Amino acid sequence: MVNKNAVLACIKEPMAQYYEAMTTTLGNWRPLEDAAEKLLAGRAVEDNEVPAVYRPLVEMMRLIAQVTQESEWDWSSPAVQKIFKNKADSSLYNIFTNVIVGTVTAILKNVTIGTLVEVGAGPGQVTASLCEEMTKNDMNISVIISDRAPGIASTRDSLQQSFPSLGINAFVWDIQKDPPNELVDSLSRPVLLYERFCLPYAGHGAIDKIAPLADILILQDDLSLTGKKMAFDILYGKIGTRFLTFSESRQLLQKHFSLIHTCDREITEAINSSVTTFTLAIR
Ligand SMILES: C[S@@+](CC[C@H](N)C(=O)[O-])C[C@H]1O[C@@H](n2cnc3c(N)ncnc32)[C@H](O)[C@@H]1O
Repeated sequence: MVNKNAVLACIKEPMAQYYEAMTTTLGNWRPLEDAAEKLLAGRAVEDNEVPAVYRPLVEMMRLIAQVTQESEWDWSSPAVQKIFKNKADSSLYNIFTNVIVGTVTAILKNVTIGTLVEVGAGPGQVTASLCEEMTKNDMNISVIISDRAPGIASTRDSLQQSFPSLGINAFVWDIQKDPPNELVDSLSRPVLLYERFCLPYAGHGAIDKIAPLADILILQDDLSLTGKKMAFDILYGKIGTRFLTFSESRQLLQKHFSLIHTCDREITEAINSSVTTFTLAIR
């Protein structure tokens, strides 16, 4: 049985830092949505129309608007890869990385965890930062990374090479389906399972597939608080992301967890955003 108060205490400091970073770096989310509306209407958005912090995101939206008008979206195209890399290296993405790494590390330090599981780990950017923290803090908790893409095996190999003291296993797992038996068999409870920006590709239903494995679950995704689709959502929908709402996610989470906590309410209000980006659930 996980001690809920101990977990909630762990998120205080990382959330305070997240608040500080988001409110000083962003201030207001609205300019990004304004840019999305213009792009969706087929109009141009110049770089100087948006604060610098949003530019990598606007570059990505510009590309989505342009490419999906002419052809199918292809993640492997060099232009897409280059702009996605700029986005992933941006200061905004670093803020998102820091908060999930800070939160997971604080829980690992203060609460007994048997296995740490990541779904949709992709190239392992978050995983690498976490492995660094675990190594620095001399933590020896078994790590499982997974993704529906087979490339997860080479992500594991390079992580294992960089962090030889950790035990890292990788599984191909499409979270729209049941987990592989070998993955389930290798878990030690309690399990802390987290994901970042994978659920929008897998959809709400995947919550029912990942939740049974988790004693503590962290979702770092935009979940709409209003249920109203914004231009941003429509643009991203063109490349296969699904519109996620907090209310539908909460209904699914309630089947598996006794505590569901929106960690970033104050931030959402402070930056005028209609989405929550950080949800914690405890069995
Ligand atoms: C935007 S990337 C995020 C990667 C990583 N979590 C990060 O934050 O840097 C989305 C990842 O989700 C994975 N993904 C998409 N649909 C999935 C599914 N149904 N099951 C598992 N992984 C999925 C993709 O292969 C990709 O690696």
